[in-house]
Amino acid sequence: AKKPITVTLTGAGGQIGYALLFRIASGAMLGPDTRVRLNLLEIPQGVRAAEGAALELQDSAFPLLSHVEVYDDANAAFAGANVALLVGARPRTAGMERGDLLTANGGIFGPQGAAINAGAADDIRVVVVGNPANTNALIASAHAPDVPAERFTALTRLDHNRALGQLAATVDTPVGDIRGVTIWGNHSATQFPDVAHATAAGDSVPALLAGRLGGPDGAREWLVDEFIPRVAKRGAEIIEVRGSSSVGSAASATIDHVHDWVLGTPDGWTSAAVVSDGSYGVPEGLVSSFPVDSVDGAWRIRQGLEVDDFARRRIEASVAELVEERDAVRSLGLL
Ligand code: NAI
Repeated sequence: AKKPITVTLTGAGGQIGYALLFRIASGAMLGPDTRVRLNLLEIPQGVRAAEGAALELQDSAFPLLSHVEVYDDANAAFAGANVALLVGARPRTAGMERGDLLTANGGIFGPQGAAINAGAADDIRVVVVGNPANTNALIASAHAPDVPAERFTALTRLDHNRALGQLAATVDTPVGDIRGVTIWGNHSATQFPDVAHATAAGDSVPALLAGRLGGPDGAREWLVDEFIPRVAKRGAEIIEVRGSSSVGSAASATIDHVHDWVLGTPDGWTSAAVVSDGSYGVPEGLVSSFPVDSVDGAWRIRQGLEVDDFARRRIEASVAELVEERDAVRSLGLL
């Protein structure tokens, strides 16, 4: 049998970690033929919860799961890692300033980047879920000078999937028939969910929206007043309705991100925050969400999409926020 893939999950004792573990172990992330070794990293207060989850994994008798180990030391947890899911982060608590939040997370993602640099496998792929995800990915990458920056990504697939869900409901199409949606920029309220190139079962989504919403002006109004804010603020809506943050959908999107990165995007592009090469005017080196295809196990930014003035302004606004976050962590000495 092939050597198992080593997956390191941080925050394994938390909510998203709990939802992720069972899907990773079932084969949903890396396919039905790939055995998995799980390294679970927690801070000391979270170790018991991760150990409890490990007991339940044993009780689930997943044939693909070869081994589970719980760590509170980053170097040990990332040794030999092929895939790293960085979920554990310091949440913003009442009264916390932005600088404090960035500093606290710099203290997590800097050392984890260094541990990845020191001991991960040569093919390491990293996805940051813990917020602020894009900037945490930038920090981790900066501390891993020997790992290509392309291997550090941040999750915007949840935003992408949320956009698909909203469109499917509005144009009344099965969600699996929608293609060509892009999330641009930061995983934050400034993100730009872009449907200009989207299709539903081959038909233009902007045309379908115009047909249903009284013409192009009605469609534009719906996009600006309803769709974009609803996707961007869906996290708050979930908290409001469910009484707790998005967990299952965040875990599901993380599975999708790694699945497509490793196994490919047969249905056309998806969205992921990857290091910018300057495409679409996004400053080189920022970790920003783009339309991406996975080719031979690497994300490629889809080139040549037309960006109109409306889209350009929205992308620029979100990228400006990323620049601000980068400058803030730089001035705090975290890069
Ligand atoms: P949670 O609080 O239930 O779990 C977080 C876990 O991380 C805790 O068990 C904690 O002990 C652990 N942890 C903290 N620092 C750590 C470190 N240095 N090393 C290892 N583990 C550490 O939170 P939940 O609901 O699982 O969310 C996790 C993160 O995901 C949050 O930052 C949240 O904002 C973010 N998130 C991101 C989304 C995205 O689309 N990018 C969507 C939803 C949540």
